[in-house]
Amino acid sequence: MPAMIVVGAQWGDEGKGRVVDNVGPRADLVARYNGGDNAGHTVVAEGHKLQLHLVPSGILHVQAACLIGAGVVVNPAQLIAELDELAALGVDVGPGRVKLAAAAHLILPTHRALDGVKESARGGSALGTTRRGIGPTYADKAARSGLRAGQMRDPEVFAERVAATVEAHNRLLEESGGEPLPVKQVAAEYCAYAQRLAPHLVDGSAMVGEALDAGKMVLCEGAQGLMLDIDHGTYPYVTSSATIAGGALTGLGFGPHYVESVIGVGKAYTTRVGAGPFPTELLDDVGARMREVGHEYGTTTGRPRRCGWLDLPILRYAVRVNGLTELALTKLDVLSGIDPLQVAVAYERGGERIDHFPAEFGVDELAAWQPVYEALDGWQEDIQGARRREELPAAARAYVTRIEAALGIPITLIGVGPEREQVIIESP
Ligand code: GDP
Ligand code: IMO
Ligand code: MG
Repeated sequence: MPAMIVVGAQWGDEGKGRVVDNVGPRADLVARYNGGDNAGHTVVAEGHKLQLHLVPSGILHVQAACLIGAGVVVNPAQLIAELDELAALGVDVGPGRVKLAAAAHLILPTHRALDGVKESARGGSALGTTRRGIGPTYADKAARSGLRAGQMRDPEVFAERVAATVEAHNRLLEESGGEPLPVKQVAAEYCAYAQRLAPHLVDGSAMVGEALDAGKMVLCEGAQGLMLDIDHGTYPYVTSSATIAGGALTGLGFGPHYVESVIGVGKAYTTRVGAGPFPTELLDDVGARMREVGHEYGTTTGRPRRCGWLDLPILRYAVRVNGLTELALTKLDVLSGIDPLQVAVAYERGGERIDHFPAEFGVDELAAWQPVYEALDGWQEDIQGARRREELPAAARAYVTRIEAALGIPITLIGVGPEREQVIIESP
């Protein structure tokens, strides 16, 4: 049995958590491949609303083991808090079930402090990061001065490494006007985290490889989305990891021939949290309505999300970069009552029209490109009760088929509400 990748097709928060939960019954292993606790994945099922930042969203399906892969950056305090929260709900999060790749990198409190100092120094051009220390931790990884989870196996040596890294970070913080953090206290805290997390450590790539070779289904869960990818997103307004499907291969450590399906997750409209270009953004009542009806407030930071029309060139870009085989379209219910609906179908600059997202341009030049819209009929009905496509109003069905026609791939899952059951699932 093969690997399946679930990947964000817009700017994150597309509903990856709920899609992974919906696909969960097919998976033997659910593995997060990138990002850290900048992610917030919501699962509403079994009477609970879980907001997961690090633990994979397949955790409620008892048959699935869970792995936090090498490509993830881990805040150990957040991971422990999440494990405790799940354990209190009676979920098995023991070391036999939830595994942490030894090659994953660890976030220190000084990484978070550096993230904040850098953001403040950027002033008006701040990226609007989640201030979780993501950028500085990936920077240390690339500079080969990071701390890996596997080092927690030897708490004493680990505490020394933590202390040395915090000291180095403190010098950077002082140079940039930030507050240094207490070295011994941080080292002692991390020593305690190490004792707690060491039993969860595993060779992540070997775990995935063994599962695949044993014919098991490995579900790879991405964080963020294409437009926040370090290479292919709206740089520099991006996160610091490979968010695209290719990130699953590097972040988990397995080969492309195992990949059978790549499910892109896209909202029926578009949102973005944080700064940076967003051509179809709506600053009017329609955008405000999407935000209120769709509860578009960040899972991690509580910030209001910017809302706008669906952008088909972005989704087509997602099909290409990720090799999407199918799309999960979420939050279709949020569009009920908006009529007409606009969707961007192309881009235009001074009379020149292109059908693709102008990704080859930097953010400054991108501002010159305007979306070209097509109006589609809206519908008034509440669609949260629909469980088959035929039960949707004709205009909602036409909206879905218009997207399929533009992308050339099937929409196999349609979200009509946040609950696990509020979904239309079709085989590819
Ligand atoms: P993720 O980061 O991609 O996992 O997405 P988030 O969990 O950050 O944000 C998606 C939000 O939309 C969550 O609050 C979900 O509960 C909610 N959601 C997901 N699918 C649907 C849907 O089909 N309809 C509605 N109304 N809400 C949904
Ligand atoms: P999920 O997995 C939406 C955004 C931040 C900021 C930029 C860089 O829930 O979809 P960072 O803290 O990563 O350095 O911030 O990326 N961002 C997200 N936006 N969903 C996310 O994750 C995000 N993770 C980071 O708002 O604009
Ligand atoms: Mg989210």
